[in-house]
Amino acid sequence: MIKRDGAMPSLWQQTVEPLPFNNEAPAGNYDVVIVGAGITGISLALRLQTAGLQCLVLEAHNCCFGTTGGTTAHLNTMLDTPYTTIIKHVGEDGAKLVAQSVKEAIHHIEKNIETYQADCGFERTAAYLFAQNVQQEKELQDIVTACEKVSVPVHYSNNIPLNIPFTKAIEIPAQAKFSPVQYVYGLAKAFIAAGGRIIEQTAVTGYTHRTDEVVQQEIIEVQTDAGYSYVTNKLVFATHIPPGVNVLHMRCAPYRSYAMAVKLNGPYPDELCYDMYDPYHYYRTQLIDGEPYFIIGGEDHKTGHEDNTAACFNKLEAHAKKYFNVESITHKWSSQYYEPADGLPYIGELPGARPNVYVATGYGGNGMVYSQVATILLTDLITTGASAYASLYNPNRIAPVAGFANFIKENADVIKNLVSGLVTRTQLESLSGLAHNEGRVVVFEGHKIAMYKDGNGNLHVLNPTCTHLKCSVSWNAAELSWDCPCHGARYSIDGVVLNGPANMDLKKIELKND
Ligand code: FES
Repeated sequence: MIKRDGAMPSLWQQTVEPLPFNNEAPAGNYDVVIVGAGITGISLALRLQTAGLQCLVLEAHNCCFGTTGGTTAHLNTMLDTPYTTIIKHVGEDGAKLVAQSVKEAIHHIEKNIETYQADCGFERTAAYLFAQNVQQEKELQDIVTACEKVSVPVHYSNNIPLNIPFTKAIEIPAQAKFSPVQYVYGLAKAFIAAGGRIIEQTAVTGYTHRTDEVVQQEIIEVQTDAGYSYVTNKLVFATHIPPGVNVLHMRCAPYRSYAMAVKLNGPYPDELCYDMYDPYHYYRTQLIDGEPYFIIGGEDHKTGHEDNTAACFNKLEAHAKKYFNVESITHKWSSQYYEPADGLPYIGELPGARPNVYVATGYGGNGMVYSQVATILLTDLITTGASAYASLYNPNRIAPVAGFANFIKENADVIKNLVSGLVTRTQLESLSGLAHNEGRVVVFEGHKIAMYKDGNGNLHVLNPTCTHLKCSVSWNAAELSWDCPCHGARYSIDGVVLNGPANMDLKKIELKND
């Protein structure tokens, strides 16, 4: 089973065999170094490699460890940010360009699958969006009007393929679905066959620009935790959110979404479906090795803002059982996405960085299609210096935040010193009152401590101060992780970074034994 950034295995993790990459890591020179082996990193690497550039992908964990392994993989031209909102922000012409870019993105996936024989259960199918009250009917009408303005075909439908009561519905033709990990693995194989390199379990710890004396040109040296450095002309952060401290962290809000795969008694709908609540539910079927799985998702919330994450699954399960004849639940999992401030992703040159450093982030709930928009856009930027979509998705479209340095507040690292030696492991355990498999941030002598008691009764005690910009992490009971509510960094029970932007682990608190 491939590994992912959560404790609950997704449908995709268990149905794909891990690829045996050659993780030998000698230092070397590359035209492009891409950080992150998710769908953005791998598809961009393949496109650049086949355009004649020598590419290296560096991955801190394993291919598809992040949200690519946890998405539910809907491919839409009808986006989570309605075209009504997009028109408000970028005008009708800009919104038409957005619609064109996502249409091109789905076509790009289709073409890749054909070219590289990526067997990933891709299917074109219609999508349905349905209203269940008067307010939603009004929103639906606004969406139809906006879709007509930007040339996204939609029409009203008297039916939806689900047995859920509705008052009005629209059909959006020619959307699509696939198995995301199988797609990425198919492209990864093609990338390696084309001479590209993927190195896993190697985190990028920093990069520096310097002038190459021989060619008198600025180059970038990329440092890793494996001790090797790589020299490159172009560096791309395809890490879902860029690491370090960047203005984009203030423009992207982390959210979590919950999903389950179920077996149904009776027929499986082929189409994609969405209700219109906030947060909304989403539904679709995926065939894997000839077996249908019905995938239901929803119950989204801001990362770190829900005390009882396990209850989100309970609500989703109750919803599934209310409307569908569920025979069994085969998988439950959750994953993270980043909502951009103005509803559009940030793809292009990394704000605040020197030239030739790129980023793709803020995909919202449309990561599958925007990853391909990023692939097309960044390939054009890197190979020709221009892209038809560059200004639309320009990460620098946001004004610099005044006094940005003030976000980084000095937070003296006193917890370890105050707690260590003062209190024994047994005392702290009884003070916290934790049950087995429970985690919580507790306050001791005015200081916060992140504590998790595992199934064997062992305590895992950490400083809850996020190493990114010093917010306090919250316990995620569903995925057994510490999640930061500020910019979405996530850590394992022992404080190891699962998701950026943090690039340092939470500090452990050593306790006295009795
Ligand atoms: Fe930024 Fe935690 S992710 S403070």
